[in-house]
Amino acid sequence: MAKTTAAITAVGAYLPDFVLTNQLLETMVDTTDEWITTRTGIKERRILKEEGKGSSFLAIKAAEDLIQKRGLDVTEIDMVLVATATPDMPVAATAAYVASEIGAVNAFSYDLQAACSSFLYGMSTAASYIESGKYKKILLIGADKMSSILDYTDRTTCIIFGDAAGAVLFEPDEEGFGLQDEYLRTDGSGRQFLKIDAGGSILPASAETVKNKQHFVFQDGKSVFKFAVSNMADVAAKIMERNQLSHKDVDWLVPHQANRRIIDATAKRMGLEDSKVMMNIHRYGNTTSATLPLLLYDYQKQLKRGDNLIFAAFGGGFTWGAIYLKWAYNS
Ligand code: UT7
Repeated sequence: MAKTTAAITAVGAYLPDFVLTNQLLETMVDTTDEWITTRTGIKERRILKEEGKGSSFLAIKAAEDLIQKRGLDVTEIDMVLVATATPDMPVAATAAYVASEIGAVNAFSYDLQAACSSFLYGMSTAASYIESGKYKKILLIGADKMSSILDYTDRTTCIIFGDAAGAVLFEPDEEGFGLQDEYLRTDGSGRQFLKIDAGGSILPASAETVKNKQHFVFQDGKSVFKFAVSNMADVAAKIMERNQLSHKDVDWLVPHQANRRIIDATAKRMGLEDSKVMMNIHRYGNTTSATLPLLLYDYQKQLKRGDNLIFAAFGGGFTWGAIYLKWAYNS
C-alpha cells in the first residue's frame, strides 16, 4: 500500500486595506524610509484599523477566500488549526470561533503559538494528523494582528510588523507529494530577547504594567538577528543535506519574512539564486504567522506539481526550523 503523505491542496489569504508606508511612519516616529529599506527590506505593511476586529477577522477572511476558490464543502473539514501569536483573547481559542463562523460544524479546532514559527510548526501538526490516517481535511490558518501588540512610539519594533492572514488546506496524497521531511528546533533561553512581559501568568495585567508599556512587543533586534541569521540557514542546509538535495533540486525557498538580510543569508547558504527565493517583505513587512502562506498565495501561479519547496522560519522562543514539501498541483 502506498504511503500516505500530507499535501497542500489549496491556498487563501487576506490583507487589510490600510497601507502603512515608510513615509507615513516617518511622520510618526524618528525613522527614515532609507533606514527601514536598507536594514529590513520593508517598504509598506497592512494594518487592520477597524475597532473590535481581531485576528479571527483576518483568519475568517483568509479561510473564506480558500473555501470559495476551491469550492470546498465546509462540512467536510475535520480540523481548523489557527497559528497565531495574537489570539482574539487569552481564553477562548480563536480557532473555535473561526471554525464556527466559517461553518465547519464537523471540525475540532485549537490555536498553536510558537511566535514567528507558528505556521511552520502548524504544518508539522497538520501533516502528522493526515499521515496518521485520522483526518482527511485540515485547514491551517496563520493569522496575526501584530498592530494590536505594537508600541507605535517605539521605532525599533513598530516599523517591522504588519497584519495579515493566510490559509492552506492539507489533504492525504498517495502519490508521494506533500510534506517530505521536517527539522524543528527550540531554545527557551532565547525568550529574553523577544517577548511581551505582561499579561501572562508570570506578570498579570495591572495598572502598573499598562503604565510601563509591558503589554507591547519587546525585541533586542541585534541579538535576535544573530541567532536568526545562522539558525535559519543551518536548518535549511541541514534539510537539503539529509534529503540529498542540491541547489539544483530545490525549486523554491519559502522563508519567513523577518528581514531581507536574513533571507539573503539563508538563500546564499543553500546556493540558491534570487529567482528561487519567495519574497514579499517589501509589501507586507513581518506578518508573523501569516508570512509563509502569504508567500504561497503570492507565488501560487508559478508553482508546479512536483516542485521542491523548502520552508524555513525563525521566531521568538526561540523557535525555528525547516520543512521540505513537494508541491502537489498546477494552479
Ligand atoms: O520574526 C521574528 C524574529 N525576528 C527577527 O528575525 C528580527 C531580527 N532583527 C532584525 O531584523 C534587526 O536587528 C532589526 C531590523 C530589528 C534592527 O536592525 P539592526 O541593523 O540590527 O539595527 P540595531 O538594532 O543594531 O540598531 C542600529 C541603530 C541604532 O542606533 P545607534 O545605537 O547605532 O545610534 C538604533 O537606535 O539604528 C537605530 N534604529 C533606527 N534608526 C532609524 C533602530 N531602529 C531604527 C529605526 N529608524 N526604525
